[in-house]
Amino acid sequence: METIRLLVDNNSNSEKSYTQAVDLLNNGEVVAFPTETVYGLGAVATNDRGVKKIFEAKGRPSDNPLIVHIGTIEEVANFIEEIPENALKLMDTFWPGPLTLIMKAKPGILAPSVTAGLTTVGMRMPDHEVALDLLRKLKKPVAAPSANRSGKPSPTKAEHVEEDLQGRIPLILDGGATGIGIESTVLDITVNPPVILRPGGVTKEMLEEVIGEVIQPTKLQEKLDSTPKAPGMKYTHYAPNAPVYLIESDQMTVSEAISKLSNKGEKIALLAPLSFENLGADFFFPYGEEGDQEMMSSKLYDDLRACDKTQATIILATTTSIQGVGAAIMNRLEKAAGGNWYK
Ligand code: TXA
Ligand code: MG
Repeated sequence: METIRLLVDNNSNSEKSYTQAVDLLNNGEVVAFPTETVYGLGAVATNDRGVKKIFEAKGRPSDNPLIVHIGTIEEVANFIEEIPENALKLMDTFWPGPLTLIMKAKPGILAPSVTAGLTTVGMRMPDHEVALDLLRKLKKPVAAPSANRSGKPSPTKAEHVEEDLQGRIPLILDGGATGIGIESTVLDITVNPPVILRPGGVTKEMLEEVIGEVIQPTKLQEKLDSTPKAPGMKYTHYAPNAPVYLIESDQMTVSEAISKLSNKGEKIALLAPLSFENLGADFFFPYGEEGDQEMMSSKLYDDLRACDKTQATIILATTTSIQGVGAAIMNRLEKAAGGNWYK
């Protein structure tokens, strides 16, 4: 299969590109498209044949449910049994935006592979012109995971989708680099207090301002819980080819690590703030200015992917505080590193 990439930036051909995407989706095909978080790989959420193609193209385990994307808040009622009061408040405040709400699904409406056997479904309204235009032209819900091969960092550029899924999907709508760069916050609102299953751009603090107490499990609790509630969180994630090690964001510590590793013949890629540039790493991928977590989240996956294009044998990634969006960044970094710290 040939994969076509079409630029949708309000150029005169954009309308045609949307029509092509809508036709493919209506015919049970998959299409990759940008959202404000990462690129998604979508299929019509009521078409089981189309949804199955998502799992095939990504190599995704079939027990990992998909998020359903909608173009308007009103559509939620078509798919959800009872919308909790708190969910309505959150939709009003954060939609469109990077917040996925897990609610009880109406039985028999969504394709069975979307929910992977669960009675709940995650819904979100993305805050991206291309995603919203596509949803509103299609007038159907779109099930979409991140558009990467399973295990790889989520794609934040159309080029990343191409790298991973070239020849496996018919169309990529190219809307340039995504803004936030890490996936949406997943909040289970079927329980009280609600639980953050995956931290993201909408932080615990932001949620609590609207609905009061919200639980954000610590890593230890996550480990003790033998059946993770967001099935996807148990798999290897965001992993470049070379092993990733987390390291304290301190120039002395990093510089000593680099000399030791160099002496052992390692080729080192360093992901760190701009000011760490001259510490002797073989390859340097700056997050941005020290403490700029927004920049860090928007660059993280691109940097991790860029490591794969180097001869690096080891990747050192400096950490950030777990305040605000830092919780989401550290969650992804810890997964990319498989929990390993440089010692
Ligand atoms: O920002 C995002 O959320 C992106 C864009 C494309 O919207 N999508 C995304 O989808 O990251 P995916 O499939 O890569 O991650 C969805 C996560 C997985 O960890 C999955 O297990 C969890 O949400 N999830 C989905 N439905 C669930 C459900 N009913 N109950 C618990 N967890 C669920
Ligand atoms: Mg994913």
